[in-house]
Amino acid sequence: MHLLIPAAGSGRRMGSQRNKLLLTLLGKPLLSWTLAAAEASQHISWIGIMGQPDDFPDFKAILSDLSLVKPVELIKGGATRQESVYNGLQALPPNADRVLIHDGARCLATAELFDRSAEALLTCPGLIVAVPVKDTIKVVDERRIVRDTPDRSNLWAAQTPQGFEVKLLKQCHQEGRQKGWEVTDDAALFEKCGLPVQIVEGEETNLKVTTPVDLALAEFILRQRTDKSK
Ligand code: CTP
Ligand code: MG
Repeated sequence: MHLLIPAAGSGRRMGSQRNKLLLTLLGKPLLSWTLAAAEASQHISWIGIMGQPDDFPDFKAILSDLSLVKPVELIKGGATRQESVYNGLQALPPNADRVLIHDGARCLATAELFDRSAEALLTCPGLIVAVPVKDTIKVVDERRIVRDTPDRSNLWAAQTPQGFEVKLLKQCHQEGRQKGWEVTDDAALFEKCGLPVQIVEGEETNLKVTTPVDLALAEFILRQRTDKSK
């Protein structure tokens, strides 16, 4: 199965000078942890990374350190995650019929999670990895008055990987461009096109490293994992 990794962001909320995926976690760049899990997954056979060309020299250095067995392609990212994924879809090899998309910033996802997603994708056209929300979620208006409290038992927090039939997802992205839809994940495009998206059980530790606190948490979790495997 083919994997696309959006990695073309700037990490604004991290407040760092450079792409947050180049920051180090336990001495290795964030992106290299993501790639190591993808390399360890049994089902992934090809990896495309969408990045800003300015970051390509750093990405190449990461790849040469890892010396992955799987073929990897660097693809030019866009101004938004949505555009980066669009570019990635155009760069897929012609034989790619199903694709997993996984944020480079979710560097704690395990190989097992990739495998579970890949297996589930053989039996449905679209899926997301998600976990039940722990907080009570409020719907709020522009004056910050609470308008609604949705039943928590129906609420799941979306993660990646997300997986789709390539042909369908390409059509959804195309329609999204024509109609000016702006979304933060690919499943939202699938939903807007009326296509079903299946939930696959995610991992509580599969956080998206977004702010400095996430970086500290990720380091803590990775350290625990490496200690356990000793
Ligand atoms: N991403 C991308 N192309 C963009 C923007 C984001 O490929 N134009 C990627 C990021 O590199 C990240 C993933 O999409 O792996 C999720 O995005 P996010 O966590 O929002 O990362 P950033 O956009 O870098 O962070 P911020 O929004 O704080 O600037
Ligand atoms: Mg962003």
